[in-house]
Amino acid sequence: MTEFLDNYKPLKPLIFDSHSHYDDSKFDGVRDELLSSLPQHGVGRVITCGCDLKSSKAAISLAQKYDYIYCAVGIHPENLESKTTVEEIEKLAAHKKVAAIGEIGLDYYYCRENRSEQLYFFEQQIILAKKLELPVIVHDREAHSDTLEILKKHKPRGVVHCFSGSAQMAEEILKIGMYIGVGGVITFKNSKKLPEVVKMLPPDRMLIETDCPYLAPEPYRGKLCHSGMIALTAEKIAEIRGCTAEEVLKQTYLDAQKLFCL
Ligand code: NI
Repeated sequence: MTEFLDNYKPLKPLIFDSHSHYDDSKFDGVRDELLSSLPQHGVGRVITCGCDLKSSKAAISLAQKYDYIYCAVGIHPENLESKTTVEEIEKLAAHKKVAAIGEIGLDYYYCRENRSEQLYFFEQQIILAKKLELPVIVHDREAHSDTLEILKKHKPRGVVHCFSGSAQMAEEILKIGMYIGVGGVITFKNSKKLPEVVKMLPPDRMLIETDCPYLAPEPYRGKLCHSGMIALTAEKIAEIRGCTAEEVLKQTYLDAQKLFCL
């Protein structure tokens, strides 16, 4: 894990990782060492996301412990059996380091049987975010048309993270005023639709992210991912867009600051 950090020359400008899960058990044993060292390796801001009551509380604890970490609280569509309520999320959202409601959304890859429950929680949490004037962090896996329909209906501020839709869907998301989150998948050889999306996005509507501990960019695919690896994702985005990795990091930092009001 530290092999990448050891060889890593900090980049200027800094990295803003707009989506991570540092409460994940895959970080057990290395979490504090890693999180203490990331700022010395070019990481300026991180949003760590909750997925249910327990992980949302854990996300808040991490944000309390580390100045540069902020968090999102929410119920992920894969975690509906945890029976967390929207009211419990609302209480947690009062914490000053909560910057968003997330991650929330629809996942028809993981589970198709509870669609109506997924739709209900997604919609209720968007309504909560709007009431609290917070942005949303949206998960959409194989649920593009329902996700788009709900987002069009409520028009929240926010980001569709780890975007996996078409360029046409990206245009619809941009029309709503939302951001598109791009992570390590862009470096994968089988990434086909995403390069097209990255090419067409206006520079001020893209966020960069890890979704760590998962989705480490090449050449670290399959390994434990962390926010420092965003440098590799930025290089790939720069290659596609015909600019420099520094420009990508600078612009995505500004955009994330704007969206999350940090
Ligand atoms: Ni995630």
